[in-house]
Amino acid sequence: MVRRFLPWPLPALLAWAAAWLAFVALQRAHLPAAWALVLACGLGTAASVLGGTWWQRGLIAAGFPLSLALTGAAGLPAWAWLVPLALLLLVYPLNAWRDAPLFPTPPDALNDLPDAAPLEPGARVLDAGCGLGDGLIALRQAYPLARLEGLEWSRPLRWLCARRCPWAQVHWGDMWRADWSGYQLVYLFQRPESMARAAAKAQAEMAPGAWLVSLEFAVPGWTTHGQLHHAPGGRPVWVYRMPGGTPL
Ligand SMILES: C[S@@+](CC[C@H](N)C(=O)[O-])C[C@H]1O[C@@H](n2cnc3c(N)ncnc32)[C@H](O)[C@@H]1O
Repeated sequence: MVRRFLPWPLPALLAWAAAWLAFVALQRAHLPAAWALVLACGLGTAASVLGGTWWQRGLIAAGFPLSLALTGAAGLPAWAWLVPLALLLLVYPLNAWRDAPLFPTPPDALNDLPDAAPLEPGARVLDAGCGLGDGLIALRQAYPLARLEGLEWSRPLRWLCARRCPWAQVHWGDMWRADWSGYQLVYLFQRPESMARAAAKAQAEMAPGAWLVSLEFAVPGWTTHGQLHHAPGGRPVWVYRMPGGTPL
């Protein structure tokens, strides 16, 4: 949502300016330089979720520490330069990079989903890898009566998502270790390479008639129950039904 109102490179410029302001203000408040660096880098790294691509995110997060290093403005110990890297790993843990980087579900992408995958009121729905909550927001728009849950591996993203989606239960954890058996619909926006693993997990755990829904990436070798093409950017939404459910 914020990205729509802040075209590139505004998010980067604002994030760098905010990080510099914070750094200067914290030092004036007599905080040790290393702590001012940690907090200002934290601000830049948190703002990196405003970037639409990995390049943009990297630039937003790296802008402040790089410019600080170039200006030589702070007499910091050598270890302090590990801080930006550690913060990046906290927001984007390595196993989450392997599965899918942070790209949000576009608004309105799932509006037609209930036609293809109807659910009873109160059905449990999981966004596996819920990021900042855009998928949960789109699911809520589609299924206002569902019980929505999100699962996210990055702790800061989970925290932000829980603030953005107070009507959902947002858990921290690895979606591959979570039990999917209690969900009537599991929603994914991951990577092509993750789809075979997700399909095997869904088949092993989900109840007959439950739905596996994937934005953009299809399950190789599976027949779809339905496919939506209305998602912005021409992204397809693939809908699969676990075998053995009652006919619709
Ligand atoms: C492409 S984003 C999709 C975010 C959200 N589902 C949406 O559609 O707006 C993928 C998210 O999955 C998370 N993720 C990747 N691997 C994960 C895992 N094994 N367990 C939990 N979350 C994971 C990433 O951190 C990232 O936030």
